[in-house]
Amino acid sequence: MRALACDGYEVMLVGRDAERLERVQRSLGGAGHECVRCDLTRPAEREELVRRAGKVDAVVHAAGVHSFTIPGRTDRQFERIFATNVEAPIALTSDLLASGSLVDGSVIVFLSSAAAVIGSRMTSVYSASKSAVLGYARGLAADLAPRRIRVLSVLPGLVETPMGTRILDQTGDAGSGLRQQHPLGIGRPEDIAGVIAFLCSPRAKWMTGTEIAVDGGYSLR
Ligand SMILES: NC(=O)c1ccc[n+]([C@@H]2O[C@H](COP(=O)([O-])OP(=O)(O)OC[C@H]3O[C@@H](n4cnc5c(N)ncnc54)[C@H](OP(=O)(O)O)[C@@H]3O)[C@@H](O)[C@H]2O)c1
Repeated sequence: MRALACDGYEVMLVGRDAERLERVQRSLGGAGHECVRCDLTRPAEREELVRRAGKVDAVVHAAGVHSFTIPGRTDRQFERIFATNVEAPIALTSDLLASGSLVDGSVIVFLSSAAAVIGSRMTSVYSASKSAVLGYARGLAADLAPRRIRVLSVLPGLVETPMGTRILDQTGDAGSGLRQQHPLGIGRPEDIAGVIAFLCSPRAKWMTGTEIAVDGGYSLR
């Protein structure tokens, strides 16, 4: 969000933790930013978000959850992971299109994951959710190209965020293996943000329906 604010966007920050949103908002450069407390899995809250959003030039679907799953007991996590990682971004996109919020020439970016295309242990359900988003983004790109609305996906490797840190903590000794699988080291949020800002910019105006790996070389293996 910081990268987009630097590029002159008026940013609407969305999440469930109002205090954290306000803290981030205060740290942004530029003006006209706003926070909206919204659980994206709740239709009524999404509706209110779309109402407040008005006209939109770029949407970055970054909200997501990760859980490790044990084959044979995946049902416990399936609903929560798919509700947040798949249903919510698809429903929000649909709501934004139905309301006429997304202007011609706008950009939609989905945060998928390297896990969408690389299998690793206890990650099957999360991987499936991130692959689902890729399929949706490709189809949507074809649907929206006549309006020059571009749809793109980013596939991050492991990034130092609360989610990334939790993954490293939970993997224990295997965590050091995970670090080594990233030849350029673990990513920083700004490594992803810079690429998202590029995708939203006119420099990427001939890109749509594709995905870009930003993973410090994780997909080299
Ligand atoms: N970190 C990584 O290593 C990594 C790697 C590959 C892909 N990704 C993907 O990148 C995206 C961002 O991940 P992150 O690392 O920033 O994760 P994070 O540190 O866990 O943050 C997740 C974000 O999603 C929001 N969120 C979750 N559920 C929500 C809901 N129901 N409604 C509204 N907001 C919700 C959270 O806000 P609130 O808590 O305020 O609701 C938080 O801002 C995710 O889609 C993730 O799957 C991350």
